[in-house]
Amino acid sequence: MFRLVFKQLISQQINHCCTNSCSPRHLFHEDCERAINNQIIAELNAAYAYLSMAAYFGRTDVALPGCEGFFNAMQVEELQHAQKLIKYQNLRGGKVLLCPLTCSDCTEWGISKSLSVGLEMEKLIKEKLISVHEVAETHNDLNLMDMIVTDFINEQERSICEFGRWLSRYGSLQGNCSGCGCVDFLFDKEIHKTYVKSDPTSEKTYK
Ligand SMILES: [Fe+2]
Repeated sequence: MFRLVFKQLISQQINHCCTNSCSPRHLFHEDCERAINNQIIAELNAAYAYLSMAAYFGRTDVALPGCEGFFNAMQVEELQHAQKLIKYQNLRGGKVLLCPLTCSDCTEWGISKSLSVGLEMEKLIKEKLISVHEVAETHNDLNLMDMIVTDFINEQERSICEFGRWLSRYGSLQGNCSGCGCVDFLFDKEIHKTYVKSDPTSEKTYK
């Protein structure tokens, strides 16, 4: 009798191990999985918007290579964030669920509008990252909480600061050069020199 019960217990244990052995999923709540998928979409939507802006500045009738490089680099950065989250989702045994992206129908961005939209978008992404952190906290998912803070929040603050600084700089140039029509040219030259070309080792280097 004892042998039979023992045999059944071992059999149950083996079955349990077999059904779970191929999945690394462990203490990973569905809410966290969903929150990560939402964040992936947010990062991809931002990348899509930056791509639209870079395309605008690269147009023959606009021809502002500094701004084109800046927004191209921003696009790459957002894409890398999405890829990092996809890798993390797979690492935890979750499933990536993508959906159609939201696109802007704006074709005439301009420097002021693109920087303002970029700043708002970066702030929104930060809020969404905090939401992911809150979901992780609710389910006591220390690993996800750490990943969001270490790999995303700090960089997000830097992006917000960067957009704010460029927006201020553009405003200053507008104030100093009112009426002379060279503001966009000067700003593009500056962003090209100080951001795009100044750090050849940076991920944001314009190529
Ligand atoms: Fe991002």
